[in-house]
Amino acid sequence: MTTTTKGEEEEESEQVVTPWDVSAGADGKIDYAKLVREFGCSEIDENLIERIERCTKTKAHPFLRRGLFFAHRELDEIVSAYEKGEKFYLYTGRGPSSESLHLGHLVPFQFTKWLQDAFKVPLVIQLTDDEKFLWKDLQLEDCRRLARENAKDIAACGFNPETTFIFADASYMCSSFYVNMVKIAKCVTFNQAKGIFGFTGDSNIGQIGFPPVQAAPSFPDCFPHMFGMNKKSLKCLIPCAIDQDPYFRMTRDVSHRIGGYKPALVESRFFPALKGESGKMSASDPTSAIYVTDTAKEIKNKINKHAFSGGGATIEEQRENGANLEVDVPWKWLNFFLEDDEKLKEIGEKYGSGEMLTGEIKQILVDVLTPMVEEHQKRRALVTDEVLDVYFNPTKTPKVFLDLFREYEEKEFGKWEKKKGGGDSENDDLCAALEEKMKLEGATENEEGCAIGAPKSEDWLRIRKERMQRDAPTEGSKSALKKAAKIKAAAEKKAAEKAAKAAARGEAAT
Ligand code: TYM
Repeated sequence: MTTTTKGEEEEESEQVVTPWDVSAGADGKIDYAKLVREFGCSEIDENLIERIERCTKTKAHPFLRRGLFFAHRELDEIVSAYEKGEKFYLYTGRGPSSESLHLGHLVPFQFTKWLQDAFKVPLVIQLTDDEKFLWKDLQLEDCRRLARENAKDIAACGFNPETTFIFADASYMCSSFYVNMVKIAKCVTFNQAKGIFGFTGDSNIGQIGFPPVQAAPSFPDCFPHMFGMNKKSLKCLIPCAIDQDPYFRMTRDVSHRIGGYKPALVESRFFPALKGESGKMSASDPTSAIYVTDTAKEIKNKINKHAFSGGGATIEEQRENGANLEVDVPWKWLNFFLEDDEKLKEIGEKYGSGEMLTGEIKQILVDVLTPMVEEHQKRRALVTDEVLDVYFNPTKTPKVFLDLFREYEEKEFGKWEKKKGGGDSENDDLCAALEEKMKLEGATENEEGCAIGAPKSEDWLRIRKERMQRDAPTEGSKSALKKAAKIKAAAEKKAAEKAAKAAARGEAAT
């Protein structure tokens, strides 16, 4: 699908942005303002960035403060909910079609890592081995192997293994995932899919049926081991480049019909190909991109020989007119990966005015990328199969529950003391309570407003209280009695507050 509407197609540029194809318009540039208009997302403004900094108490990532992540869908709502104490989960992915990632692929993963740390939220990462099998000339077995290889590069970005679940579609597909897929699929007609994704009569039916696979992880009940069985237990935020927007436009359109929240998105520009924005970074042309497996020598050669330059053709011309930063690839790449804002500004001024030459900015880029890629390679070497298994393990995660619920638990019932003499009583107790909650919420799947961290339903409180009363020790160790007294006091306090509120409401009404 082009970003032009049907009637405009002939006279307008051929800018194409789909999940499978990205190419610039006739002027060699991607028109992002046009994409925002046509896709119907919103631009990220200063105010939103400031709110993110305030609620996370973290300086915005360079990708955010430099406008590289520039568009969103309801990111403001995620931030508003977070400001009130609600949590959410992150969902991103990769289609494993090559042995290793190129630098453009690192962009969403580095940003997701920053989001995970800043907001302290769990993350799921989908590897669409099925998608690549359906679209590329690859055997499914190869795609499955590549998924694991790519996962090593993804893990090397430093995601927290306790709160990150990586899965490949062909291995993970489970009942709750399938149930979501089939519900989504029923809401989208073939005509709609053709309009969104550009399918034709030649598309194989696996391709036509694929979009629900990428849509489904936007709903937390695809991951019952992490988030329970309630489709509304958590909201979802998806970081990606804007090429993935069509999948999630479709998802958002059907969310309410299947009883879920619309996923929110935060979307980036494209990291341009080495030979210029109009070209594509492609595994079949190794000089079009730098890969995370490239050696220092390869990085230097590729940049010096192939990086598209906006500088003057001769030294004299460059001194006279300066460089065209709009098209200069070394400058654009530094905007992504040079962290120092001051230094970046100075380079832009000097190179743009002609004081700096093309060879000099290319050398700066080599000096920035070489240690970054070498560092990545060192971290990747530490990702053994055993380490990878931790990320892929779908049964590891009462820990995620515990982290999500702990704050709320403690606010409501006071801090739990660990049982002496082994056993993780805190974890066990909470998990049992959560299982009950899951059972309960399975019955009220479409209930609004039960995102984790937000005030819970009366039922959840009731179950918890009943459990505590039932289990409260009447005799025993000092600490057990202390704990019981604490629980009782907390319950009484809460009941008194509730009664006072009800009385106040009654007075206000009369
Ligand atoms: P894939 O493998 O094409 O790309 C993986 C992620 O990298 C982003 N990306 C880029 N970002 C900046 N500059 C570039 N030049 C560039 N090229 C790719 C993509 O937007 C993506 O975020 N179908 C997906 C896999 C997927 C997914 C998801 C992606 C499954 N679920 C949820 C994002 C969110 C794919 O093939 O991505």
